[in-house]
Amino acid sequence: MLFEPPARFRVGIPDDYPVNSVSFLREQQIYVVRTAEGFTALSAVCTHLGCITEWRPDDNLIACPCHGSKFNRDGIKVAGPAPRPLPHLSVQLAPDGQLLVDKLNTVPANQVLKV
Ligand code: FES
Repeated sequence: MLFEPPARFRVGIPDDYPVNSVSFLREQQIYVVRTAEGFTALSAVCTHLGCITEWRPDDNLIACPCHGSKFNRDGIKVAGPAPRPLPHLSVQLAPDGQLLVDKLNTVPANQVLKV
């Protein structure tokens, strides 16, 4: 039997994430990005061949270890062979005050959850 992690999940409350932070959630394979404007969530799966990217705070970039693609915190590719940006995922505030991410629901890159 295969274990499939849920596509829709809570990732904690907004105060868990400092302003101007990029948090990698390894189990869910996403980034939660908080800016002064609010929250976005990015898929951590590289759009080249599907390796899992990693956040490199010293470079202020998301980097893929496989073939060198690099993305900024908006998911825009800045280097390497990846053909597309990292997808932005739906992030909403659930009634219990937690952030709720839906990996099956991609949203436009300019859609920000204001809190
Ligand atoms: S899989 Fe990420 S650069 Fe190739």
